[in-house]
Amino acid sequence: MHSLFPPLLGLFLAIMAFVARADESDGAALYAPCAACHGAAAEGNVDLRAPRLNHLRPVYILAQLDKFQRGLRGGNEASVAAQQMAESSDLLPTVARLPELAFHISELTSPASSSTLQGGDPIAGGKSFMRLCGACHGANAMGNVALNAPRLAGADDWYLLAQLQAFREGQRGRHREDRTGRQMRNMAAMLSDEQALQDVIAYIRSQQE
Ligand code: HEC
Ligand code: HEC
Repeated sequence: MHSLFPPLLGLFLAIMAFVARADESDGAALYAPCAACHGAAAEGNVDLRAPRLNHLRPVYILAQLDKFQRGLRGGNEASVAAQQMAESSDLLPTVARLPELAFHISELTSPASSSTLQGGDPIAGGKSFMRLCGACHGANAMGNVALNAPRLAGADDWYLLAQLQAFREGQRGRHREDRTGRQMRNMAAMLSDEQALQDVIAYIRSQQE
């Protein structure tokens, strides 16, 4: 009883500190090859059409990486951007280490991305969002893990537009085994025209912190 910390507790704390440090640097090392396109803080790069990732939950990141790897997303009929990402799957670590990578990305932070679109009406967009999208993505576009619906608040406006167009044109969500993508394809088709897309995006953008 001569020490405040029993020796074993001290050893335990030292190990935990080491594990925490190792995790942190491992995640960063796994992410390093992705930063060339997605940016050091996963803030996205519009010139490369590589979206922001740091607003996404690890479970959605993992699901999409799995789709890119298995050809459910980014196949022959997909956009050039999606094909580029599918090819970048070579840079991914082994399956066992993917959660570490996804977790690391979700812990990164960056300021809100700037707007590249004008002309969307957030009020009109809010009405269609509540009617068509909120049930899955949540009224504030924060996503719903149980429904596999990703968070949209915080996403780049140009990327939201590109994805909604890709779903509408059947470039994304086409693969037979892409169940969640097919679901989203039907929903994107319900937005009547380009203006309706812009309005919904203006609403989503109004929901980011
Ligand atoms: C050559 C550039 C490039 C590299 C390198 C790259 N990506 Fe991507 N990534 C993209 C592009 C472009 C897209 C958008 C695809 C689309 O439009 O469908 C994308 C999309 C994604 C998405 C889907 C996001 C969403 O909201 O659905 C995830 C997740 C992702 N990348 C993770 C990674 C990870 C992890 C790495 C590193 C192993 C990586 N990317 C490396 C270009 C790249
Ligand atoms: C039935 C549930 C459901 C509804 C309703 C729905 N979504 Fe989705 N949405 C999903 C799912 C699930 C995904 C993930 C698709 C995948 O796994 O590739 C998704 C993906 C998306 C993406 C791609 C995000 C990214 O990071 O790549 C966008 C954008 C999107 N939804 C917008 C909308 C909009 C706008 C509406 C309303 C018009 C809507 N969604 C309605 C379930 C839904």
